[in-house]
Amino acid sequence: MADLDLDLDSDFEPDILTFCCNWCSYAGADLAGVSRLQYPANNRIVRVMCSSRIEPTFILEAFKEGADGVLVTGCHIGDCHYIEGNEHTDVRMKDMVEALERLGLGGRLHLEWVSAAEGKKFQETMIDFVEKIKALGPSPLKHKRVE
Ligand code: FES
Repeated sequence: MADLDLDLDSDFEPDILTFCCNWCSYAGADLAGVSRLQYPANNRIVRVMCSSRIEPTFILEAFKEGADGVLVTGCHIGDCHYIEGNEHTDVRMKDMVEALERLGLGGRLHLEWVSAAEGKKFQETMIDFVEKIKALGPSPLKHKRVE
């Protein structure tokens, strides 16, 4: 008798939440769009005025609500419209990456600096992150949501 293939996640399409700062990375995402640079449609973009606006609770809430991965993007260091907001983001996200490791969500949070002129970089970041999350599989919290 042949073994049954019970790989229920073989067609897994991850849900990605992407935070974009208004001034650079959101414009980079827009440039990718108007340049017709294709990337997976797995993500929902949330625009914030600065990457430093993204509090750890936003990321935890995203995972609680079923995100398989969270991508944070912002202006390059030195280009933040609020001078050093993204330097705080850098520190905060490194702490969050470590905290998520301990929670069994390692590899599911990524920080990338994307300028308004980097539509191609935005596209490549999206493609790479979706592939990474596909390889990790669904978030362990995904099927444990309490309605
Ligand atoms: Fe873009 Fe601060 S304004 S990271």
